[in-house]
Amino acid sequence: MEADRSFGFVWVLLLLLGITAATGREVCLGTDMKLALPSSLENHYEMLRLLYTGCQVVHGNLEITHLQGTPDLSFLQGIVEVQGYVLIAHVSVRSVPLDNLRIIRGSQLYNSSYALAVHDNIHLIQVGLGLRELRLRSLTEILLGGVYIWGNPQLCFPRNINWEDTVTKVQNKPLHLEDIPKNCPLCSSACGSGGCWGETNQDCQILTSVQCSSGCLRCKGPKPNDCCHVQCAAGCTGPKDSDCLACRHFNDSGTCKDNCPPPTIYDPITFQSKPNKDKKFSFGATCVKQCPHNYLAMEVACTMVCPKANKEVITVEPDGLETQKCEKCEGECPKVCYGLGMGNLQGVTVVDATNIGMFVGCDKIYGSLAFLSDSFKVNAVSNSTGLQLSDLEKLKSIQEITGYLYIDAWPDYLDDLSVFENLKVIRGRMLYKGVLSLGVQSLQIESLGLRSLRSVSGGLVLIHNNSRLCYSSSLPWNSLLHPAQGPNLIRSNNQDQQTCVSQGRICDPLCADAGCWGPGPSQCVSCVNYKRGTECVEQCNVLQGSVREFVDGFNCVPCHPECQPVNGSASCTGPGPDQCKECMHFQDGDVCVERCPSGVKEDQHTVWKYFNATRHCLPCETNCTVSCPLDDRGCPIQQKTGFVHLSATSETEGGGLK
Ligand SMILES: *[C@@H]1O[C@H](CO)[C@@H](O)[C@H](O)[C@H]1NC(C)=O
Ligand SMILES: *[C@@H]1O[C@H](CO)[C@@H](O)[C@H](O)[C@H]1NC(C)=O
Ligand SMILES: *[C@@H]1O[C@H](CO)[C@@H](O)[C@H](O)[C@H]1NC(C)=O
Ligand SMILES: *[C@@H]1O[C@H](CO)[C@@H](O)[C@H](O)[C@H]1NC(C)=O
Repeated sequence: MEADRSFGFVWVLLLLLGITAATGREVCLGTDMKLALPSSLENHYEMLRLLYTGCQVVHGNLEITHLQGTPDLSFLQGIVEVQGYVLIAHVSVRSVPLDNLRIIRGSQLYNSSYALAVHDNIHLIQVGLGLRELRLRSLTEILLGGVYIWGNPQLCFPRNINWEDTVTKVQNKPLHLEDIPKNCPLCSSACGSGGCWGETNQDCQILTSVQCSSGCLRCKGPKPNDCCHVQCAAGCTGPKDSDCLACRHFNDSGTCKDNCPPPTIYDPITFQSKPNKDKKFSFGATCVKQCPHNYLAMEVACTMVCPKANKEVITVEPDGLETQKCEKCEGECPKVCYGLGMGNLQGVTVVDATNIGMFVGCDKIYGSLAFLSDSFKVNAVSNSTGLQLSDLEKLKSIQEITGYLYIDAWPDYLDDLSVFENLKVIRGRMLYKGVLSLGVQSLQIESLGLRSLRSVSGGLVLIHNNSRLCYSSSLPWNSLLHPAQGPNLIRSNNQDQQTCVSQGRICDPLCADAGCWGPGPSQCVSCVNYKRGTECVEQCNVLQGSVREFVDGFNCVPCHPECQPVNGSASCTGPGPDQCKECMHFQDGDVCVERCPSGVKEDQHTVWKYFNATRHCLPCETNCTVSCPLDDRGCPIQQKTGFVHLSATSETEGGGLK
C-alpha cells in the first residue's frame, strides 16, 4: 500500500462538499458490481470506504460484498436513503451497521426482483464465521421490489420482522426468507411481541403501517391524528408534508412533493405559460436548483447520459460558470463516436478487433473503452485476430472519454499506454462496475505515458498490481482528480518507489516537482525551465541554433521562418513575420517577406514593388496592368523587353519580383 490513501480521504470530503452544495445532503453514486470483485480484497474494502464515508443518500445501489474479519464499517452509519437496491453478499463480518437506513427505493432491482438481497454471507473456510445480524433498525420502507434473505447460516437477526409493514400494500413483492438458526438469542423484552434487528432495546422493529388507523399509508401511531401526509414514505413526526422521515416522490427543500417546481408555469392573466424562475431539476428523489458537477441538465432532470435524439451541449453562462446540458437535436443529431455502452456499442463490454475501427480519427468518445484479455485473443468464430499495435495506434487522436477507461490486459511489448498520450479528460459519467473511471491493473507497463491527462471528473481511479510500473507516485493526483466530484485514488502493489529510484526510473531532471508520466523530458507534468512543444528543455534557442526562438511565458516558440537569425541578440520578439529583428529576404513595410509583392491584386489595383540596395520593398512609381514591360529597376514601364524572364533572374537574385 502506498501513501495516497489519506489523500483520497481528503477528496472524499471535497466530493461531499461539492454535491452537498446542490442537494443539501451528501449524495454518493453507489455501484453496479453485483458479486464481482473488480480488484483485490483489500482494495474492495478501500473502495467501499472511499465511496461511502460521509454519504447519506446513495444515488444508485448499495453493494456491500467481499468483507472479512473485523473491518471498521462505521462509514456505513450515515446512510439514510438508497435509490436502487441493497445487496449484502459474500461477507463474513458479524454485523453490517446500516443503523440509519430508512428507505430503499428499489429504482433498480437485484436479479430484477429484489430491493434487499442478503445472501451467501458465510466464511468459506473458517466454519462458524458469517453474518450474524443485519442492523437495519431504521428501515421502514421499501418502495419497489422484494426481499431475499438466503444462504446465511449464522444470521440470527432480523428475527420475527413484520415485512408487510416495510413492503406495504403493493402486489407481487416477492419475499424469500430463510428460517433463523436454532440457539439464537431472543429479541429484547422491550420489543414485546414484535420483531427485532438485534438483541438490544434499540433494535425493536418500528411499525409505521400495519397498525395505522384505516386510510393512511404511514403513521407514527395507531390514532387517526397520527397519520402521516400522503407524500411521506417510511414514517413521520407529524401530519404535514414537511414532517416526513423520507419523501415518497421528491424532496423540495424539506417539503415532500409529487414533482419538482416545473420549468414553466401558467400565467392566469395572460393565459400563457411563462418561464418559472423558481424551477428546479429532479436529481434522484431531490429537487435541485442546479445539477451537481459532472451531471447534464435536461428539461426537468439531471442525468449522466443524454437520451436518444439529444446531444450534449456545453454553454458558458454570463457569470462564467460552465453548464453541461442535453438538447434536442433539430433533425438528425450530429454524428459522434460512440464508445462501449452507447449507441451501436450498447451492451458491448470490450474493445476488440471487430469494433476498434469505430474509434479511428475520433477526438471525443461518447461512452467507454475497456481492454480485457479478450481484446487480444484470436477469435476463431468471428475470424478476428487479437488487437495489434497498428490497431491501437488508431486511438492516438482521442482527447476526451465521457465514460471510463479500464485496462487489465495490454500487449507485453508495450511499455506504456502512450496510444492515449493525447487524452486530456476522462469524465467518468459511466463507470466500470459502477466504480472506476480509470482502472489500470495487472499490466507489464513501466510507465503510464498519459502525458496530456488533465482531469478525471468522476468515479474512483485504481492503479493496481502493475509490477513494473514506476513514475505514477510522482504525479499530482489531487489536481488531476476533480475536487468537486472527488474521484479517489487507490494505488497499490505497483513497483515500489525504492526499486524505481535504484533503477534510475525516476522523472527527468528537467521535470518540475509536479512529477511525470514516464521517462524523459517529454513526459513531465510541468517543466523546471522551459518547454518546446511537448518537451521540457533547459533553455530556448534565443541566441543560438538553426531555428531561433523567443520566450513566451515558459514556452520556447520559433521565430517566423522569414526572420534572419542574428548573433548576439534575440532574432524576434514574437511569432509573426513583423516581429523579426532582421529579415531573411526582404522587408515590406514592417513585415519580412520572401519576395516583394509584384503584380499582387489588392482591392481595386495591382501592387508593384521593387527592392532597393538594403532589400526594402519600395513601390514602383508607375502602376500598370499585367503585361507591361519593366524598367531596369524591375518596375513596369512602357515598351521594354525582359519582363518574361525576370522571374528567372529574380530567383537568383533572391526573389524581388515575380
Ligand atoms: C439471480 O438470477 C440468476 C440467473 O437468473 C440465478 O442463477 C441466481 O440464483 C439468482 N440469484 C438470486 C439471489 O435470486
Ligand atoms: C430533504 O432534504 C433536506 C436537505 O435539503 C434534508 O435536510 C431533509 O432531511 C430531507 N427531508 C426528507 C424528508 O428526506
Ligand atoms: C478468415 O480470415 C482469413 C484471412 O484473413 C481468410 O482467408 C479466411 O477465409 C477467413 N475465414 C472465414 C471463416 O471467414
Ligand atoms: C497481478 O498481475 C499478474 C500479471 O502481471 C497476474 O498474473 C496476477 O494474477 C495479478 N494478481 C492479482 C491479485 O490481480
